[in-house]
Order: sequence, then structure tokens, then C-alpha cells
Amino acid sequence: METLVLNAADDGAISRAVALLEAGDLVALPTETVYGLAGDAGRQEAAAAIFHAKERPFFDPLIVHLPTLASLERVTIPPPGTGRIAERLVERFWPGPLTILLPRRAGVVPDLITAGSELVAVRMSAHPVFRAVIEALGRPLAAPSANRFGRISPTSGAHVFAELAGRIPLVLEAGPTTHGLESTIVAIAPDGSLGILRHGPITEEMLAEFGPVRTLVGLAGAAASAPGQGPGHYAPRTPLEIRARAEMVSDLGALPKTGLLAFRRDHGAVGGAFAPVEYLTEAGDLREAAVRFFAALRRLDDAGVEKIVAEPLPEIGLGRAIMERLRRAAAGSGPLKPS
Ligand code: TXA
Ligand code: MG
Repeated sequence: METLVLNAADDGAISRAVALLEAGDLVALPTETVYGLAGDAGRQEAAAAIFHAKERPFFDPLIVHLPTLASLERVTIPPPGTGRIAERLVERFWPGPLTILLPRRAGVVPDLITAGSELVAVRMSAHPVFRAVIEALGRPLAAPSANRFGRISPTSGAHVFAELAGRIPLVLEAGPTTHGLESTIVAIAPDGSLGILRHGPITEEMLAEFGPVRTLVGLAGAAASAPGQGPGHYAPRTPLEIRARAEMVSDLGALPKTGLLAFRRDHGAVGGAFAPVEYLTEAGDLREAAVRFFAALRRLDDAGVEKIVAEPLPEIGLGRAIMERLRRAAAGSGPLKPS
């Protein structure tokens, strides 16, 4: 299959995407977080095609993107006994980078999309291109990140092309995404507290005003867990290690063909021992680091080095979301993993 890349602003680009989706085909679309591989969430064959294109195992469910706020109640049921917390989160953060796990309404999305779970993950994207497409279509879209399973998430149309060329008919290119990291995923516990299954642009600090917040990331056996959040995601093919700057200085001589993923530009003498060097920020702004993170990791992975060394980031706010991904990237890195 030939993969066409169209600038989303070009005449006819949006209507072409809508026509493909109406026919049950897949289209890669920008969202404010990362690019998604979208297909009609009401059609089993479209969902199956998403798993196939990504080489994604069927146990890993897909996020359903809604066209309107009103469609929330057509896809989900308000979680019993939790008050208005779901509505309050939606009012505050939608459209935007928050995914909420809610009880699914029976018979609306195929079982394949939720991997058989009684909970469905829903969000509403704020990206103008995504919104133009989904509003014209008028139906929910299933859309995981548009990378092959376990690999680095795409923050541009060019990244999507590198991952999925030949497997999907169309990519709408709209440049780099605003947040650079996938949406935060939250579950609502029966007592109304929130559990974070994936850290993201809506931080723990931002969620705290809605009630007690717990981190469920990586907790095997948690009542709610995201099957796709195991170790070994976001993985570069080049071995990746996380090392503090002080440790790097101690073995400067022993780092042949090693790329550096530095937090700040002020890398000083340390950076000089590495080539290439990618900086996540000029002066330590975590928003800037989030936006640059996946693209920088991908450039280092494509640079032909033997190893990548990444500096840890401060684990507050967005730093937590970046470190969560960096640890998984390190765990899954290397030519043989993920299996
Ligand atoms: O920002 C985002 O969320 C992007 C854009 C494209 O919207 N999408 C995205 O999808 O990151 P994906 O499939 O790459 O990651 C979704 C995560 C997976 O770890 C999956 O296991 C979890 O959400 N998930 C989806 N549905 C779930 C469900 N019903 N129960 C538990 N976890 C679920
Ligand atoms: Mg993903």
C-alpha cells in the first residue's frame, strides 16, 4: 500500500481523511499530544486494522476519541457512587490531553477496542485538525499513538511515516505537537479518588484539586491498569541507559560512540565527550523538555551510535511523565527488545 502524506492545511486534505475513515480505512492524524492512528471506533474491521498496522497485541486496548461532549453518554455510563467527578474532570480538561477510564455502555464499541474490559478509555482531542476530521465524521474514532507497538511515539507526520509507511493509506501532517507526550490516563475509584495509569500533560498536581490522587503506573494487579504500560515501551533500538551527570564525568574516557540526551544545554565538559548531543531544554523548562523528548530520542536512535546515555530529570509535574517514559525506553531498548 502506498502511504500518502498530505499537509493538513491543503485543500481537500480533511475531506480525503474523512472519506477514508467513512470507508473503514485508517488515517494518521495529529492530536495535541502525539500523532494518532485513527479508525472508526464503531467498526470491528477498522479496529482490527489498527492492531494489524501497529503489530499491537490484542490484549492492549485502544483509546476512543469523542466528536462532542454530548457523545460521552452514548459511549460510557457515569461511574456509580463517585458523584460528579467524571463530569467535573471533563468540564475542566476537555477538549485536551486527559483520558478517563469509564464503564462502557454495552454494544457501542466492539470488544476488540477495550480488549474485553468493562471500562473504556475516552478522550476528546483539542487539535484543530483532529477536531475538523472527527466533527465532519460525526462518530467516535479509536486512535492509539501512530507508532509500531513498543516504539517511540510520533510527534510529527514524518515520524509516523518512518513507523508506518506502506501500512496505512494517509498521514495528515501538521507539524510538531503541542505537548509532545501522550495524554494522562486516570481511573476513578469507587470512593471518588483518582488513579493515574499514565502520567502526562495533565499533572498529578493539576488533578489533586479533584480529590486524592494515587499513582497506579506499573502496579501489577491494580484494580485498574493500562495493559500497554508494561516495561519496554517507547523503546529505541540503540541501548539506552539513565545516568546522572556526576557518574558520567567519572568514566569520560570509556564512552566510545555514545549519544547524550541532556536535560539542559549547559552540559559543559560532559557533553564534549559525547557525539551527538541532544538537549531537551535551554534552561530547564519541563514543558519544553516534554515537547522535544520523543523527537530527540528518535534522532539519537537514528544517529548510528552504540549507546545512548540519558540524564534524569526532576520528578515534579511534567518531569514525572517524562521520567516514566525514559525508564520504559531504557528497559525496552536495544535491538532484541521488546519481544
Ligand atoms: O495522547 C494519547 O492518548 C494518544 C493520542 C493519539 O490520543 N493515544 C495514545 O494511545 O497514547 P496508546 O494506545 O498509544 O496508549 C493508550 C494506553 C495504552 O497503554 C492502553 O493499554 C491504555 O491506554 N488503555 C486504553 N484503553 C484502556 C482500557 N479500556 N483499560 C485500561 N487501559 C486502557
Ligand atoms: Mg502508544
